[in-house]
Amino acid sequence: MGNEWGPLGALIGEWEAEGGLDTAYSHGEGKVLGTPYREKVSMKPFGPVDNGSQHLYGLDYKTAMWRGSEENPFHTEVGYWLWDAATGEVLRGFVVPRGITVLAGGTATADAVEFTLKASLGDDQYPIGEGRYLTTHASSLRYEVTITVAEDTWSYRETTMLKMKEFDDLFPHTDHNTLHKVG
Ligand code: HEM
Repeated sequence: MGNEWGPLGALIGEWEAEGGLDTAYSHGEGKVLGTPYREKVSMKPFGPVDNGSQHLYGLDYKTAMWRGSEENPFHTEVGYWLWDAATGEVLRGFVVPRGITVLAGGTATADAVEFTLKASLGDDQYPIGEGRYLTTHASSLRYEVTITVAEDTWSYRETTMLKMKEFDDLFPHTDHNTLHKVG
């Protein structure tokens, strides 16, 4: 795929992984759980999208994660990744169907094999949005993800800092996985 997608070019395709690990507070079990998961990610290229003099190239993405052999995924995301070659800005806008939207941003070089995107609640530039229930019970204050690209694989490591009723301190909800190309 051409250079138009900058550091996102390496993410284009269909991807699968077995070795994900989620750390979250499980309300079902009443404790913090480490949950292994498998994942399927689809990243479809599009572009350019023109905002006046800005030209963005993007990936239309969806991902889903399953525990073991369960039929329905326990976590999904839909959204877009965007690259602005003129400024080196990378954006990842997505929805988590718990009532959360995230527009995470950062900068990278066109040939970067590692880059970090961040968002936080109330931020003017890269905000997190959430519904009323989560604001009261489990508010997502900060989100950070680091992407690392290698040959025919890419990995993410992400942390969401949650203000939860169950804990006095902020709770780090973490996820990581390494995706392998299947198409
Ligand atoms: C690979 C990515 C992710 C996975 C696998 C995942 C998985 C989970 C799991 C298993 C729970 C526990 C649910 C329960 O038993 O009560 C949870 C809770 C939660 N997650 Fe995630 N999560 C991911 C990413 C995110 C992201 C990116 C955000 C926000 C930016 C987020 C926000 C939340 C919130 C707010 C809760 C708490 C809900 C509550 O306490 O009622 N998660 N997640």
